[in-house]
Amino acid sequence: MSEAKTILKTSIDLKKIRADFPILSRKVNGKSLVYFDNGATAQKPQQVIDAIDRYYKEQNANIHRGVHTLSQEITIAYENSRSTIQKHLNAAYSHEIIFTSGTTESINLVATSFGKKFISQGDEIIISEMEHHSNILPWQVVCEEKGAILKVIPINDSGELLMDEYKKLLSDRTKIVAVTHISNTLGTINPVKEIIELAHAKNIPVLIDGAQAVPHTSVDVQALDCDFYVFSGHKLFGPTGVGILYGKEKWLNELPPYQVGGGTIKTVTFEKTEYADLPLKFEAGTPHIEGGIGLAVAIDYINEIGLSKIAAYEHELLLYATEALQKIEGLRIIGTAKNKASVISFVVDGLHPFDIGTILDQLGIAVRTGHHCTQPLMQCYEIQGTVRASFAFYNTIEEIDEFIIGLNRAIKMLK
Ligand code: ALA
Repeated sequence: MSEAKTILKTSIDLKKIRADFPILSRKVNGKSLVYFDNGATAQKPQQVIDAIDRYYKEQNANIHRGVHTLSQEITIAYENSRSTIQKHLNAAYSHEIIFTSGTTESINLVATSFGKKFISQGDEIIISEMEHHSNILPWQVVCEEKGAILKVIPINDSGELLMDEYKKLLSDRTKIVAVTHISNTLGTINPVKEIIELAHAKNIPVLIDGAQAVPHTSVDVQALDCDFYVFSGHKLFGPTGVGILYGKEKWLNELPPYQVGGGTIKTVTFEKTEYADLPLKFEAGTPHIEGGIGLAVAIDYINEIGLSKIAAYEHELLLYATEALQKIEGLRIIGTAKNKASVISFVVDGLHPFDIGTILDQLGIAVRTGHHCTQPLMQCYEIQGTVRASFAFYNTIEEIDEFIIGLNRAIKMLK
């Protein structure tokens, strides 16, 4: 047994954890499901499913709007969820936690509101070459509307940011930096603290896209000193359709509302509207109530296991899978940063990722294939797409063995 296997057996209670995720026991195409598409969305533990079920069976009412018991109970539950998320991120105040529909909406909110107030003709916005489209397009729109310029931090062949180039890009015209914490395609863990410190030295605020980071690592927004941190619930073992924007109070107070409507106001007349204080100023309309509640349950769940244990275990999965993949002839791993999360993208000479993914699916193995919403990154590597396996703490070494057997079979069939 390899060293990795020994460590894996002792690190977390896999049997208990896997039993919490009902979907992991289903069959796909007659085979036991091997779910390696956690970067796209993670599976949900029974505890989250139960919380959503309970909401509809026992608690359904609107929040912040009623004097009746159900409304008051669910308002308390929803606000307690906000506090859970605040504590999880170590935010200074719960009103710095804004519920959104996900990472994409969180970035659109900041780009739109920040852009409206702080970006003008000739200003510069810095992103990186490894950004997800969701952290490119909203800034591109601002640039088009305001006549601003998008600057891009380049990467090296391993998929690491070129920090010297970043330093050169920071200028008096830079108004905001927006970078990913962990690349969804490469798995690279970026030096976000250093990125923030360098920007702050020039009084430039920083948004961190944490969509791929929060399932793998603990995040302390005060220690990072980021101005905005965004993520989605569904990648964090919570419900789809809910996400978080953390923003420093100072910034959230300064930004104009993004969407307006019910819930965002103090007073309305036909002449003028006075907006509500944080966080309601940014939460128009009835929110995804059961989503917010389910997300807090998911956070409690992972905290019970412990994010440091999760990170250590996933690192072993990453090492084991990397070692096995490197033995396959003609296979090239895209993204070989020194500091990586449990995400492996690869290409195989002469084969289309889609064909590999389709055969793996026949074997019950779910991976993602394609450009992973990072087309500029694909252009940088001069490839059409990759096969991507992304692991969560409920995955096992035996599943990686099955994946490698399946992959070898797929390559043999396709060559
Ligand atoms: N952004 C998600 C992924 O990387 C959907 O798969």
